[in-house]
Amino acid sequence: PTPSFFSSALIQWYHRHQRPLPWRETRDPYAIWLSEIILQQTRVKQGLPYYLKFIERFPTVSDLANAPQDEVLRLWQGLGYYSRARNLHFTAKQVVEEFGGHFPGTYQELLKLKGVGSYTAAAIASFAYKEPVAVLDGNVYRVLSRVFGKHENIAAPASKKVFEALANSLIPADEPDTFNQSIMEFGAIQCTPVAPDCLFCPLQQTCFAFLNGLVSALPVKEKA
Ligand code: ADE
Ligand code: SF4
Repeated sequence: PTPSFFSSALIQWYHRHQRPLPWRETRDPYAIWLSEIILQQTRVKQGLPYYLKFIERFPTVSDLANAPQDEVLRLWQGLGYYSRARNLHFTAKQVVEEFGGHFPGTYQELLKLKGVGSYTAAAIASFAYKEPVAVLDGNVYRVLSRVFGKHENIAAPASKKVFEALANSLIPADEPDTFNQSIMEFGAIQCTPVAPDCLFCPLQQTCFAFLNGLVSALPVKEKA
């Protein structure tokens, strides 16, 4: 597909099929950051009640920074990977102490926060600030690999720049935020790892993997 067909089809699909999720209703970088940290190793269904609990108890990054560590850990109980909770608290204090309580305003600046790598920085920059920087997670790799016939091994770190360049060439300048949400949601719901719904897919007639019988062969994922 052409970039504009691809992004329009995804965004149209998204408007019909998206799950209503509270972190999609906000442009607050703190709330978006919080949701992304919670969702890092956690499914949406499991993470959602924790997100709501955290936002209610800590409506701003200063509220979180000022809380005692044991309260943060207690609220995190049941989510696992407790280093995430300690990092969450640390980063909240970093935002307060180094940035005056305001999240950095660009992708590059966001990378200075502890625990914020390229994925999280792109999510915050696009969702909160509409900066046109593509998110890359497992869903995005899978969709791009199948639709555009990219055979690079997604488990190899060197492949990242190939997918990054492709994703950034597809992101529409007028709605980078919706595009990023759309491609992740499309991978989570439509173009799933096993048994993707190719029969009712808006990209079917332009999808490399579908047209070439390679849907189950892509993406290539081989641990070294
Ligand atoms: N998983 C990680 N980030 C997400 C988001 N913004 N929406 C839905 N699922 C996600
Ligand atoms: Fe994914 Fe199948 Fe749609 Fe291609 S046709 S994008 S493999 S769901």
